[in-house]
Amino acid sequence: MRFTGKAALVTGGGSGIGRATATAFAADGAAVCVVDIDGESASNTVSEIKNAGGQAIAITGDIASPDTANNAVSSTIKNFGSIDFLFNNAGVEFISPLMETSVADWDRVMDVNMKGTYMMTKAALEVMVPKKFGVIINNASDAGLRGIKVNAAYSSSKAGIIHLTRSLSLDYASSGIRTNCICPGCIRTPLCERFNAEVGARKGISGEQALQEFVEANIPMQRVGTPEEVASVVTFLCSEDARYINGAIIPIDGGLTAGM
Ligand SMILES: NC(=O)c1ccc[n+]([C@@H]2O[C@H](COP(=O)([O-])OP(=O)(O)OC[C@H]3O[C@@H](n4cnc5c(N)ncnc54)[C@H](O)[C@@H]3O)[C@@H](O)[C@H]2O)c1
Repeated sequence: MRFTGKAALVTGGGSGIGRATATAFAADGAAVCVVDIDGESASNTVSEIKNAGGQAIAITGDIASPDTANNAVSSTIKNFGSIDFLFNNAGVEFISPLMETSVADWDRVMDVNMKGTYMMTKAALEVMVPKKFGVIINNASDAGLRGIKVNAAYSSSKAGIIHLTRSLSLDYASSGIRTNCICPGCIRTPLCERFNAEVGARKGISGEQALQEFVEANIPMQRVGTPEEVASVVTFLCSEDARYINGAIIPIDGGLTAGM
């Protein structure tokens, strides 16, 4: 067990990558605060962790609201005494060319993906800096590494998360805090299914067909990834084995962004 006595806060922990990572942290001994806008899914993850003998609490909230960050951080401290790891994972996809992107759409994507990451990080740093220890992992996307068609708002928000990571890694390393970013490619989750259903609908094919075509044409490893294959990188980055990794932007994408 690598994280006995440590506490992790995972946003979007009710589904997909967040759920797999919350359970992976717990399986490695960490107490976990699971934050999700969908309270039922957060409670389900907490039940899964507790049934396996772990410790967890659920916080229902929208990370675009400052109250959620404050509530999540204070509840984690109250229940577990510290916050050692923050996984800024919650995010929303948005598929639309710019001319069909309303100001409200743009604001929502930025408020959740970028501002939510900023607010959650700021609240966690208040605890980590005085303790001189913490690891922050931000979840961007392959979409943050290069442009993606009909994805201007989402890609921009994810590129912002990459630069936020770099800035944090410069400012807080001297306070004992490492900050890194992961860029998943195509990972089989409900978000990926919604994304491909919409891309498929625009082409007049099924979501599964759209996904298959994408994988064959673009992913050198010729398959999608699993949430567990992302979770294992996040927990590695939080572990002592990664103690000299700070400011890294790590694709987890089967080679998708390696080149043409
Ligand atoms: N699945 C992929 O292929 C893929 C690829 C690249 C990046 N990502 C990123 O990974 C992250 C997790 O995505 P996933 O694929 O696991 O999706 P998912 O839909 O399975 O899970 C996302 C979770 O976040 C929660 N959430 C959404 N908005 C929220 C908000 N405002 N406040 C709190 N919780 C909120 C949802 O309720 C859900 O439980 C996202 O940031 C996504 O952009 C996913």
